[in-house]
Amino acid sequence: MAIIGVDILKAKTLLENNQLVAIPTETVYGLAGNAFSEIAVAEIFSAKNRPSFDPLIIHTYNIEKIREWVTEIPEKAFDLAQKFMPGPLTLLLNKKEIIPDLVTAGMEKVAIRIPNHPLSLELLKNLNFPLAAPSANPFGYISPTSALHVNQQLGDKISYILDGGEAKIGIESTIIGFEEGEPAVYRLGGISLEEIEKVIGKIKTIHLSSSNPKAPGMLKSHYSPRKKLFINNLDTLLEKYKPDQIGVLAFNNYLDKIPKENQIILSSASNFSEAARNLFSSLRRLDHFNIEIIFAELLPEIDLGRAINDRLRRAAA
Ligand code: TXA
Ligand code: MG
Repeated sequence: MAIIGVDILKAKTLLENNQLVAIPTETVYGLAGNAFSEIAVAEIFSAKNRPSFDPLIIHTYNIEKIREWVTEIPEKAFDLAQKFMPGPLTLLLNKKEIIPDLVTAGMEKVAIRIPNHPLSLELLKNLNFPLAAPSANPFGYISPTSALHVNQQLGDKISYILDGGEAKIGIESTIIGFEEGEPAVYRLGGISLEEIEKVIGKIKTIHLSSSNPKAPGMLKSHYSPRKKLFINNLDTLLEKYKPDQIGVLAFNNYLDKIPKENQIILSSASNFSEAARNLFSSLRRLDHFNIEIIFAELLPEIDLGRAINDRLRRAAA
């Protein structure tokens, strides 16, 4: 098992020696390594069991740093950066040569974000390289929102986990790219589409399809718990399973047909942020319930409900 602690100097030393460290962010925990070191980056892919065609996000602490690694920041990207960085926003920008091809899986765009977590920002300021960091879960499984989650799944692959408490947002960053100057959404995440559109106007292009080669990480199998998850038709499921064999992930109220002790409510106040914060830990808990399958209720398709539904649909695939 890894050591869990808050020692930034220890994390820095490990990272400077090409080792991996799990770091807290406001979205989910990341599995971090020196983005400029091919050894460290290769180690990330191997620890996660992640296919090398799925590129990584690099993390830094200010917009000036981002300028050093990209050929240009389109105006709308800059407006978003000023408004949402640090925060759950990732921008896809044309990379300079200094960013290793291994990080971007050979693509010309690099994904960059500034995480909004005091410990990780402090760590990043103390390093003279950015951190490549995917979510700190085995490939295809739910992202971790606490140090304990990381330790349970990757504890034998890394030596240190920087403990920043529970993730405040709870779902991954929103990814925005630009095609001929026009913004496109590549992943719905911690900043809602509505908030993004308030800053840069209506976004016409949304690439959430699993087959899109430009966003290889949008694979459908993402975010799965180990138990089979369904989003459709509880009545049909009840023809095959007894009520106590079904676990439920509900939005704001218990469902009638299933025993209450098998159900987890994301937000009894119908608050989307609270629901997002509880999503992954609730799926993990359901995975350990004494049930056969999970039925998840979709949320209204607005605000963070969209990002939550996106993860539930992928988990159900
Ligand atoms: O909130 C987050 O973004 C978390 C925290 C740790 O920062 N990170 C995260 O990383 O979710 P990961 O690797 O689990 O997901 C990154 C997604 C993947 O779907 C990947 O395919 C996509 O970003 N991505 C990264 N670089 C890309 C690129 N150059 N072009 C297209 N998609 C890219
Ligand atoms: Mg991930």
